[in-house]
Amino acid sequence: MKLKVLDLFSGIGGFSLGLESTGYFKTNSFCEIEDHCIKVLNKNFKGVNIFNDITNLNLMPNDYDVFTGGFPCQDISIAGKNKGIDGEKSGLWKEYKRLIKQGKPKYAIIENVFALLGRGLEIILQDLAEIGYDATWTLYDTRYFGKPQRRRRVYIIAVRDGIPADSDIFEVGLRDLPTSKPMLESFNKGFRWDFKEGEGDKHTFTFVTRQRSNEFKETGLSSTLAKRDYKSYVDLVLQNGIIRRVMPEERMLLQGFPSDWLSDCGLTKKEKFTCNGMSVPVVKYIGELIRKFDIKQSSPIGSSFFSDGKYRFLDDNEKKSYFKDGGCEYESIFSVDCLKSKEDYVNLIEG
Ligand SMILES: C[S@@+](CC[C@H](N)C(=O)[O-])C[C@H]1O[C@@H](n2cnc3c(N)ncnc32)[C@H](O)[C@@H]1O
Repeated sequence: MKLKVLDLFSGIGGFSLGLESTGYFKTNSFCEIEDHCIKVLNKNFKGVNIFNDITNLNLMPNDYDVFTGGFPCQDISIAGKNKGIDGEKSGLWKEYKRLIKQGKPKYAIIENVFALLGRGLEIILQDLAEIGYDATWTLYDTRYFGKPQRRRRVYIIAVRDGIPADSDIFEVGLRDLPTSKPMLESFNKGFRWDFKEGEGDKHTFTFVTRQRSNEFKETGLSSTLAKRDYKSYVDLVLQNGIIRRVMPEERMLLQGFPSDWLSDCGLTKKEKFTCNGMSVPVVKYIGELIRKFDIKQSSPIGSSFFSDGKYRFLDDNEKKSYFKDGGCEYESIFSVDCLKSKEDYVNLIEG
């Protein structure tokens, strides 16, 4: 059965799109206050319940397995008001914390800007510990996930039932040269991005930005997309000799959404430029990490664990294995030797 998700501060639903694409999660409710975002959610997640203001939301324990939330970053972000996690907007973290305490989800995923590292991460980790949650965190940059956008974000995974000392949910231990190769390849592919299709290929482009100064810089990488006044010339692209704004459809593609995500929602041009959301491939990757962790944590004693989600048990002579499915036992065609040589074979419990 899929893990039930409550997507808080839903925006246009990037968290839900990324998590649902793993096949392991299903969003049962959103919580979003802005009307134009609600229109986008209604179009793309038909029939899913939407709560409005988080400050009025109250929950029963265990109605949801997973909470997600990129709480407002205005007071934390370098471009913002600098009031930190107690500021008027970013202070909504306290509401998120209140709901985790009330709803007791198995997992909570928290996202925010890079500046959180120096402006509040320790408070969030302390808050989570105070309500009984273990937590682990990392920093991911969208440009390493196949989209040519520099977007560094802090991701925290909080776990109700504890994180065993030998767990490495974010797989930090795998960050060495050989295992990082596929990521770096996807990074390089990102630089040959087709602005129209939203995919890497031989087309080249120049992204020019004056996000934090009056100087334009030429780079193949988009700067971090943020809420924009569509009248300002901030994110520009030079393609085939023509300089123009990055359009809302392209902003969607740079975030890993389908290009028509905002179509037919009745949004004004101005509203379309305020939508940016999560980077979908990054969220999907995090969903897969949680899936792997969740399957392993809930596997029965004596089972061996596969990353595709199947448990295997060894028979007495340890030459064959069998697996259980829906209470029935089936003999497996794989010998133990074969299992040991499989790459996705994570943990063989012998004897
Ligand atoms: C950083 S954005 C989240 C982006 C989102 N995860 C996405 O993929 O689009 C924060 C969101 O919180 C919403 N928000 C702000 N105050 C809120 C409140 N009191 N209750 C519910 N949502 C709120 C904002 O409208 C905004 O869409």
